[in-house]
Amino acid sequence: MSKLLVTGGAGFIGSNFVRYLIDHTDHTVSVLDKLTYAGDLTTLAGLPAERLRFVQGDVCDPQLVDELVRDHDVVVHFAAESHNDNSLSDPSPFIQTNLVGTYTLIEAARRYEARYHHISTDEVYGDLKLDDPERFTEQTPYNPSSPYSASKAGSDLLVRAWVRSFGLQATLSNCSNNYGPYQHVEKFIPRQITNIIDGERPKLYGNGLNVRDWIHVDDHSSAVLRIIERGRIGETYLIGADGEKNNREVVETILELMGRSRDDYDHVNDRAGHDLRYGIDWTRLRRELDWQPQYRDFASGLAQTIDWYRANEFWWRPKKAATEAKYAAVGQ
Ligand code: NAD
Ligand code: DAU
Repeated sequence: MSKLLVTGGAGFIGSNFVRYLIDHTDHTVSVLDKLTYAGDLTTLAGLPAERLRFVQGDVCDPQLVDELVRDHDVVVHFAAESHNDNSLSDPSPFIQTNLVGTYTLIEAARRYEARYHHISTDEVYGDLKLDDPERFTEQTPYNPSSPYSASKAGSDLLVRAWVRSFGLQATLSNCSNNYGPYQHVEKFIPRQITNIIDGERPKLYGNGLNVRDWIHVDDHSSAVLRIIERGRIGETYLIGADGEKNNREVVETILELMGRSRDDYDHVNDRAGHDLRYGIDWTRLRRELDWQPQYRDFASGLAQTIDWYRANEFWWRPKKAATEAKYAAVGQ
């Protein structure tokens, strides 16, 4: 049994990972989270107090991070500013949290020889052409497009340098687009589901032909746990589930599942620098760590997610109006 420190554990993927750990292991978990606009303590409600401790604080705070890392065996670093659109309107918190925060954690992890796992994104590789037969692999060169993805790319490179220069006991994973419960309403899928619940039309950026590679958040969690348990130190693993869909197809599926006409959506202003397509080749994770995703049918994963947003309006409702006001201000 280990003591894990999970940063960003009150956010979307971090909180789902904490639930996954509680359900599938005997480990005890401490969450370090600043509770920014994206963090919500109710997300962790109902989890057993004897297995879970919550600390509100900043991953950029060296003293707090030192005290916490000293007391844990494994650090799993999810905390980040995570939304591309926000990074285009104000990059500064992305530089601070994603770069300085990662630096602060890996310095502490090296001092105490803690096992460190770094959560990252497929966006560090830039984008693919729609007809490119190749997908991203662990060998694809870094080529990030947005302030968000550039800050994540920088954080990955810090971790790799700390492995090589200081012997940091680290692994890294770069995952594709997650969906599932507790995702903030600023993100594509929850924004459209909650728009439809509110009687509004979904909003597609540009022509809607950009492709994302969707994975259920529980599959991301199981892959991260497998890498922590069996991954080779210093290595990077790409996490995906063969879920490529263009945004138009996703919106049409959501509309259909929610009983609305498939063409009942609006086109709005495109995102600056909008990446065209992401696609993950996760062969390495399958071959070397014997991992498989469980959610194979996107439409049924989406239907479960729609049910969750319908049943948990108390969770997303307080975030909705401010999020839509920000989008309205830029014609999105
Ligand atoms: P999120 O925005 O939902 O949650 C981020 C969490 O981090 C929040 O709880 C927030 O309060 C916390 N946080 C932010 N700044 C902090 C700071 N300075 N100190 C402590 N806590 C802080 O993000 P998410 O979508 O759950 O993403 C989690 C991680 O997974 C990120 O590293 C992201 O880059 C990565 N990732 C996300 C996706 C995706 O599809 N969402 C895909 C691949 C990788
Ligand atoms: O690929 C992994 C990344 O996926 C993560 O690293 C990021 O943290 C996460 O936010 C996500 O980034 P994207 O920019 O791909 O996700 P987002 O949900 O913002 O948008 C998904 C697609 O939908 C993208 O092509 C933009 C488009 N979009 C988004 C919104 C919010 C719309 O068409 N309409 C919208 O209203």
